[in-house]
Amino acid sequence: MSLEGKVAIVTGSGRGLGLAYAQELARQGAAVVINDVDAATAADAVASIESTGGKAVAVVAPVGPTETAKQLVQTAVDTYGRLDILVTNAGVLRDTVLWKMSDDDFDTVINVHLRGTFTTVREAATYMRANEIPGRIITIGSPTGQRGNFGQTNYAAAKAGIVGMVRTWALELKKAGITVNAVIPVAATAMTATVPYFAAAVEADEKGEPMPAFFRHDLGFGTSDDVAGLIAYLASDAAAGVTGQAIGVGGDRLQLWSHPEPVATAYHDGGWSYDALQDGFADAVGPLQSVGEKFPPLPEDLQRPAPGA
Ligand SMILES: NC(=O)c1ccc[n+]([C@@H]2O[C@H](COP(=O)([O-])OP(=O)(O)OC[C@H]3O[C@@H](n4cnc5c(N)ncnc54)[C@H](O)[C@@H]3O)[C@@H](O)[C@H]2O)c1
Repeated sequence: MSLEGKVAIVTGSGRGLGLAYAQELARQGAAVVINDVDAATAADAVASIESTGGKAVAVVAPVGPTETAKQLVQTAVDTYGRLDILVTNAGVLRDTVLWKMSDDDFDTVINVHLRGTFTTVREAATYMRANEIPGRIITIGSPTGQRGNFGQTNYAAAKAGIVGMVRTWALELKKAGITVNAVIPVAATAMTATVPYFAAAVEADEKGEPMPAFFRHDLGFGTSDDVAGLIAYLASDAAAGVTGQAIGVGGDRLQLWSHPEPVATAYHDGGWSYDALQDGFADAVGPLQSVGEKFPPLPEDLQRPAPGA
């Protein structure tokens, strides 16, 4: 099933995962609006799609402000006549522990990921509703947003917030036939290249060698191209019934994430007073939930020294 005749916007698509998404959408027949803050990578992305016979145009502007969202939708409509698919991928990191995180670290990450997703989706959904286009909105979450991660207060807030918005938008846009999902990717990119745990996988990828099976299978960690197929699938007619979902993908692995559900429910006649909780909390809720991602131990041959060690 082809995306021929469809028009897509992919934010932050000059490099990394966004570039792979744009290239795959173009390969399946869609015309693509490339977006990045980096003009050179945006131009290269357009050239790479055109060189394989695809259609692409670049908008160099920072995602976050409403003006950029308007410019993106306007460019899709002015250049290709319509908009069917939006992928909100642009992102930055400002990692540090809570007690060292500045207001600027927090605001920068929230502005690009959370506000950038809100403003672009609002603009695209408004256009799709007005033109009765059963569009596809694909946002990007992260394992950090699902489970929390040491040193990522700002990023966890933004990525968890995106999944919260997806559930709301799936409800609000259902009648218009517009699907809204979050993809939870894991891949070797500039963003993950510095994480020591992934060093052996990134090293193999950079040498053009296949990634060790431990990464691809056990960790669901592969290349950007491994994520791109799911983006194009969600954009296709075949995925018309898939909405409000958080779907993980990386390497050889595909996962459907659960949405929060109560795992324990208990009742106390007259309500749960301080005294009732002192006596009964532990029995009422049972085992507590875990936090953070669970990584299996790295096999010895895939261990690398920490940078600077
Ligand atoms: N790499 C992973 O394993 C991983 C895991 C989970 C989530 N993600 C998410 O996937 C997305 C892409 O990540 P990546 O690893 O390819 O990162 P990357 O840093 O390689 O690429 C991000 C791109 O976004 C652009 N960008 C940054 N700020 C922008 C802005 N305000 N407006 C427009 N473009 C902007 C950058 O210039 C860059 O080209 C991000 O949302 C990231 O949080 C990545």
